[in-house]
Amino acid sequence: MSTEIPSLSASYANSFKIGAAVHTRMLKTEGEFIAKHYNSVTAENQMKFEEVHPREHEYTFEAADEIVDFAVARAIGVRGHTLVWHNQTPAWVFEDASGGPASRELMLSRLKQHIDTVVGRYKGQIYAWDVVNEAIEDKTDLIMRDTKWLQLLGEDYLVQAFNMAHEADPDALLFYNDYNETDPVKREKIYNLVRSLLDQGAPVHGIGMQGHWNIHGPSIEEIRQAIERYASLDVQLHVTELDLSVFGHEERRTDLTEPTAKMAELQQKRYEDIFALFREYQSHITSVTFWGVADNYTWLDNFPVRGRKNWPFVFDTQLHPKDSFWRIIGRD
Ligand code: GLA
Repeated sequence: MSTEIPSLSASYANSFKIGAAVHTRMLKTEGEFIAKHYNSVTAENQMKFEEVHPREHEYTFEAADEIVDFAVARAIGVRGHTLVWHNQTPAWVFEDASGGPASRELMLSRLKQHIDTVVGRYKGQIYAWDVVNEAIEDKTDLIMRDTKWLQLLGEDYLVQAFNMAHEADPDALLFYNDYNETDPVKREKIYNLVRSLLDQGAPVHGIGMQGHWNIHGPSIEEIRQAIERYASLDVQLHVTELDLSVFGHEERRTDLTEPTAKMAELQQKRYEDIFALFREYQSHITSVTFWGVADNYTWLDNFPVRGRKNWPFVFDTQLHPKDSFWRIIGRD
């Protein structure tokens, strides 16, 4: 890594934090690189329910602690991800002692215990929590996703979770986080949900726009409209899981060992336009996190096509800046 390369996060110091999703292995191999370019980190998996609380009376914090310790030692902010989600949550959470569905009362006490323990452990060290992840249904006319949280706790599970998180760390910023957040139909569902949470007095401080996008879409105009709509609720916006897949949604080709010239060109242009847009809204957007560090590792290598390499970031597989990096480098 050449020392002339400017720090990405330093170049955005007056705009917003620049973050990356990390896991513990990378801290050893790429720790210095991460600390140079990112001033926020999110645990890719290691704070999820199944990772920190696999059995009712057992918490496993070693990996999450390693990430927090790494960040705190380097004055890097930590985003907590995530407390309430329908995925990566163990089955025991939703069952009573006889294996039947847990009562509302039992669910409430478990949720409170989990949030108190996890949020309490990192009190003062995590600046923002994704309290509830992906509670909105995508396709149908349904608004809320039909999850066990909804079935067993009822619609107020979000209000409950936000209140509990706020009690456990009154200084942490609390987010509702979701994907397909720029789709006009889902955007309105998310907007209405968060508006109703705010109306009920829930301590929601922000909306997390995941930003799992690709080189073809969503359009800048759709992203702008989502930003404006969410910002009109007077909450902060975080882009929480940004990556720009080089493949379109329906594209299934598996023949590439590197992105085509056309893909690289589209990706650079998209990164340039998207970050210009983010800078335009920097009074609302306070953090932008990539869902990875560099093209050497991305969850998109296994999604939606298992084993198909993808190259969604601004650093290449060798951690060198791509043209996209030079297109977004901030001008603060
Ligand atoms: C969602 C979750 C993330 C992660 C990604 C895929 O967006 O919020 O935690 O699991 O899916 O990696």
